[in-house]
Amino acid sequence: MAYETIIVEIADDIATIRLNRPDALNALNQKLLNEVCTALEEADASDKVRCIVLTGSEKAFAAGADITEMADKTYVDMTTQAYFQSQSRRIEAIRKPIIAAVSGYALGGGCELAMMCDFIIAADTAKFGQPEINLGVIPGMGGTQRLARYVGKSKAMDMNLTGRFMDAEEALSSGLVSRVVPAKKLMEEAQGAAQKIAAKSMLAAMAVKDTVNRAFETPLAEGLNYERRTFYGLFATQDQKEGMAAFRDKREAQFRDK
Ligand code: HXC
Repeated sequence: MAYETIIVEIADDIATIRLNRPDALNALNQKLLNEVCTALEEADASDKVRCIVLTGSEKAFAAGADITEMADKTYVDMTTQAYFQSQSRRIEAIRKPIIAAVSGYALGGGCELAMMCDFIIAADTAKFGQPEINLGVIPGMGGTQRLARYVGKSKAMDMNLTGRFMDAEEALSSGLVSRVVPAKKLMEEAQGAAQKIAAKSMLAAMAVKDTVNRAFETPLAEGLNYERRTFYGLFATQDQKEGMAAFRDKREAQFRDK
């Protein structure tokens, strides 16, 4: 499919989706977010893809929702159009692992989009923030909810109330990102992580994504029950037999997603 606001490359089992509105620091408008959703869905359905990397440019992952697109909208417009709601749901429904590789600004909807991915690898130049309060609004795609789950109440309140930016080091120490690397190494690091995931059984990788996400939706006892049943279920797969046989035989497992 031909895209106008993103660039998609598929190689070595990895789909790399690059946000590409350089004139607006990758600000998220309806077109871009719809294209991201379509590319993610295509990657999710493709047997050539086992892991997805979502990235932006060196200067910006994304500097937020497109303020030009939103500025003149009314409450009624936002409500009736359910602004970015269907896109959020489409991204949440992706079953394959998604790594956000963030360089430069990840602000507002950009930070929220990164947090919708399964984990974030940041360049040392990354800057995260929820500056919506400076525009007289609040986040609308998870900046109050997911950020609080990533970094806790105090820092989420600080970020959302002051609108300040968090650098990569602070993002690492507060748990927003899983790794920080020099900007020049960002894509190599993200691709390396994606390759590692791609070498696993996809059934197990999708089960990890599903069960970890469950931890944020359920009480602990329910989550543990869900995990246990999913764990038992994987014993119905050939990949479980292969993984454990390979360990006993002291060789690399050859997973077949069966
Ligand atoms: C539209 C944007 C934009 C945005 C940047 N641009 N961010 N356009 N929407 N969110 C445009 C600028 O207007 C400018 O276009 C060009 O990108 C370069 O930006 P500059 O401001 O000139 O760059 P710089 O001085 O380096 O400053 C970078 C920046 C700043 C600090 C990131 O651009 C900024 O503060 N942007 C807004 C960040 C923000 O408030 N995000 C939250 C949005 S609300 P021109 O044509 O002038 O060159 C949101 C809600 C989500 O995300 C909820 C969804 C449901």
